Amino acid sequence: MVSKFALLSNLLLASVALAIPSSRLEARLARRREGRQSSPISRIEQPTSDVGPAKVEYSSNWAGAVVNGANGTFTSVTGTFTLPTLSGGDGAASAWVGIDGDICGNAILQTGIDFVISSGVVSYEVVPRLRYDFSGISLAAGDVIKLTVTASSTTSSTAVIQNLSTSQNVTKFLTSSSALCESSAEWIVQDFEEGNSLVPFPDFGIIEFTNASASGPYGTYTPCDGTVIELEQNSQVLTSVSTSGCNSNVTIQYI
Ligand SMILES: *[C@@H]1O[C@H](CO)[C@@H](O)[C@H](O)[C@H]1NC(C)=O
Ligand SMILES: *[C@@H]1O[C@H](CO)[C@@H](O)[C@H](O)[C@H]1NC(C)=O
Ligand SMILES: *[C@@H]1O[C@H](CO)[C@@H](O)[C@H](O)[C@H]1NC(C)=O
Ligand SMILES: *[C@@H]1O[C@H](CO)[C@@H](O)[C@H](O)[C@H]1NC(C)=O
Ligand SMILES: *[C@@H]1O[C@H](CO)[C@@H](O)[C@H](O)[C@H]1NC(C)=O
Repeated sequence: MVSKFALLSNLLLASVALAIPSSRLEARLARRREGRQSSPISRIEQPTSDVGPAKVEYSSNWAGAVVNGANGTFTSVTGTFTLPTLSGGDGAASAWVGIDGDICGNAILQTGIDFVISSGVVSYEVVPRLRYDFSGISLAAGDVIKLTVTASSTTSSTAVIQNLSTSQNVTKFLTSSSALCESSAEWIVQDFEEGNSLVPFPDFGIIEFTNASASGPYGTYTPCDGTVIELEQNSQVLTSVSTSGCNSNVTIQYI
């Protein structure tokens, strides 16, 4: 099953002639927009001897925390984070909050920020951008951004991106013909695919989601109710994730 959120993006892209890139960074961004794929979690099965502490799992593309429940458990997710400074070589990743993408096929609802470092130049973009124009918000390192997605039904949702420094809001209404299950909620830093391979995962230091919570008809949940996901590529664990203290914070450190 293909996520209709992704499908819509592909259709949009097919009908829009992309501008000719004028720099390496723009070329990279254009390629990324073109090739960006909606990405459910890609889990890595661990050999028994490598199994970490309870409730820790490994993935090649997600790092953060995931809470699972029955269908219809999660209808809203929120979290606040500070746009990171990036260092090191070229790379790209996203920080987002979302519903599904774990145990609901390819259906996924997410909102957040992409960040790219190319030849030392860092840029930020709202996700999902192409599908829905989030103009009217400019992004810089150090901005404190509150992300909220709320599903009003399994096919219609609202994404709010709020600049807590200015109380500036961007609100988008999203629709999909592919039903969400509302069976997982997550706070994630993600490496994403361009073409068929993962882009290099950049050194973002630490990203901390604060005031992270999910809610629905049965109550309110924090990241601590879920599973910690560490990102692992080529047998190397690249993150150190903590929900310690169960204080509604998720800390994702690049290591
Ligand atoms: C947030 O507000 C700060 C302070 O006015 C501004 O510099 C920054 O560009 C804003 N960021 C967003 C995402 O609107
Ligand atoms: C921004 O959105 C939040 C949450 O929906 C709302 O409480 C707040 O009043 C909005 N602020 C502005 C300036 O629109
Ligand atoms: C969960 O929701 C999805 C999407 O709405 C649906 O296809 C699936 O059958 C549901 N599963 C259960 C166990 O109700
Ligand atoms: C968390 O939420 C509370 C209440 O809305 C707010 O006062 C506080 O500034 C928020 N803190 C962070 C770090 O997001
Ligand atoms: C969560 O993180 C924020 C920002 O680092 C910190 O100010 C706050 O104390 C933390 N919350 C708790 C409950 O520890």
